[in-house]
Amino acid sequence: MSPTQVVDAPTTGADWAEQVHELARRRNAVVLAHNYQLPEIQDVAHHVGDSLALSRIAAAADAETIVFCGVHFMAETAKILAPDKTVLIPDAAAGCSLADSITADELRAWKAEHPGAVVVSYVNTTAAVKAETDVCCTSSNAVEVVESIPSEMEILFLPDQFLGAHVRRVTGRDNIHVWAGECHVHAGINGAELTAKAEADPDAELFVHPECGCATSALYLATAGAVPAERVKILSTGGMLDAARETGAKSVLVATEVGMLHQLRRAAPEVDFRAVNERASCPYMKMITPEKLVRSLREGTDEVHVDPELAARGREAVQRMIAIGRPGGGE
Ligand code: 13P
Ligand code: SF4
Repeated sequence: MSPTQVVDAPTTGADWAEQVHELARRRNAVVLAHNYQLPEIQDVAHHVGDSLALSRIAAAADAETIVFCGVHFMAETAKILAPDKTVLIPDAAAGCSLADSITADELRAWKAEHPGAVVVSYVNTTAAVKAETDVCCTSSNAVEVVESIPSEMEILFLPDQFLGAHVRRVTGRDNIHVWAGECHVHAGINGAELTAKAEADPDAELFVHPECGCATSALYLATAGAVPAERVKILSTGGMLDAARETGAKSVLVATEVGMLHQLRRAAPEVDFRAVNERASCPYMKMITPEKLVRSLREGTDEVHVDPELAARGREAVQRMIAIGRPGGGE
């Protein structure tokens, strides 16, 4: 039977998983899912992880086809790293408000104001922006990437202002210019909510993604002694999973997109993980539904294309990113 002949896939349980895996086998495809995907997508994927781990898996994949359950810049990054493979995303309209916060033209104009500066772009950027970039990073390795650049060199860090502020704080460098972009989901997780939740549960640990608007407040709570410093952890989604496996805390307040709770609860079922903001759900990540994944595997939709010239220009920056930093972050 050809992939297109499989019909009426159930979307939960063992039958659904079997259908997806059978369709993937027929297409010689590997299914990757970001930690913010719907739980049913995470459960059926061959690999679940953070942006860095999934980029590394895509770069090393043996399969002919990579089905990326995530947002468009992630699938584009996979295509840049694996240009000879077919890369599919179940819905090409799954964008990212952070990636949309800077265009290649804006970056060129910024570079013209700072000749000689090294451009460090978060992986949440379009292929056109990556083509203007010296080195990419993710939230897992942003600090290491910046530390790999000689301290006297000026840096343009983009597009996330909160991650940029975190990198500035940790590295102590004052020659980092930060673009004022933000992710609307993470920016909405604010300091007031975090403070109220932390005060109501003084023994809880805080896992905070550096894209969050509350990252500074979390560190302020630690500095002011409201929460012991060792209980405040600024982490990528993959870093949160490592920390979940090691935590001795009974409860953890999680400041990131709510899809993350699924992997955290799987990793440490005895811990009470609670969202700082239950409404922090990424509408783009949630566009990837079980039905669209099945259609993608059956029909080969939506194929991701990156202009070969742009891909060639961005590849070195992305390859430097996957070579730097922690090797974990996914399963
Ligand atoms: P990480 O998985 O790299 O922590 O990134 C989070 C994110 O915002 C992806 O959109
Ligand atoms: Fe983009 Fe924010 Fe959604 Fe991540 S959570 S994909 S940064 S909009």
